[in-house]
Amino acid sequence: MTLSILVTGASRGIGAAIAHELAGRGHRVCVHAGRDLQAAEAVREALPGTGHAVAIGDVADPEACRQLVDAATRDLGGIDVLVNNAGIFEAHPVDTVSFEDWQRAWRRTLDVNLVGPANLAWLVARRLLDRPSGPNGGRLISVGSRGAYRGEPATPAYGASKAALHSMTQSLAVALAPHGILAAAVAPGFVETDMGRTVLDGPGGDAVRAQSPFDRVAAPEEVAQAVAWLATDAPLWVSGTVVDANGASYLR
Ligand code: NAI
Repeated sequence: MTLSILVTGASRGIGAAIAHELAGRGHRVCVHAGRDLQAAEAVREALPGTGHAVAIGDVADPEACRQLVDAATRDLGGIDVLVNNAGIFEAHPVDTVSFEDWQRAWRRTLDVNLVGPANLAWLVARRLLDRPSGPNGGRLISVGSRGAYRGEPATPAYGASKAALHSMTQSLAVALAPHGILAAAVAPGFVETDMGRTVLDGPGGDAVRAQSPFDRVAAPEEVAQAVAWLATDAPLWVSGTVVDANGASYLR
């Protein structure tokens, strides 16, 4: 069955890899980007299959979220699955940052990484619940982070936002299970993307690679496969799970 899937932040990195993985499995994808429509178009053009769409908009803006869900619904003919992937990762170490920058980083990070995904989850969930055919098969998938479980010193708002995203996933799974809707998340460790390289290319890069017994970090495609499984094939019974995709880096 061909599903219609909205992937946020799909103009590059993990989101682009998720879009490719899902399109390769025969699904229709709306490739969303924050601002860069050209980049989103380029991703869409390279996708296998037909019927894909593009959209832009700041997920921190509730009205933009509403417009995004309207556009994706219109262009894909509905939304069966939401993949909340868009996110930001900003350093704001408590020992050096000013109080103003501390507040700004917390507010922006929570708005983009948590409140935006929460608003999109509401908008998509309510459409699934209102479908004349019933909500069965709907899925809400979020890209969390291993950072939720670690005391990363420079990015406290990031870790807090991802821990809250995991918690929101669990609440949605319970609330929506009676309606046949699955909610789940993937928590990657570091990944070779523009975001990941802000750390990997720095002085701590080798130490980060050494966290995993594979002595490397993930390619975006490896995270995308885990997300695509939850978004399409995983049994309903795994609802509420947060899949660790970190190369066994806890276990070393
Ligand atoms: P990236 O920085 O390469 O791409 C981020 C994407 O999100 C872009 O398409 C960008 O347009 C979009 N985006 C950013 N802010 C936005 C906003 N306000 N509104 C709409 N779109 C916005 O990041 P990457 O590495 O691909 O990360 C994707 C997700 O994976 C994020 O949620 C990130 O937190 C998570 N993650 C990444 C890890 C890594 O090491 N790269 C590790 C663990 C989780």
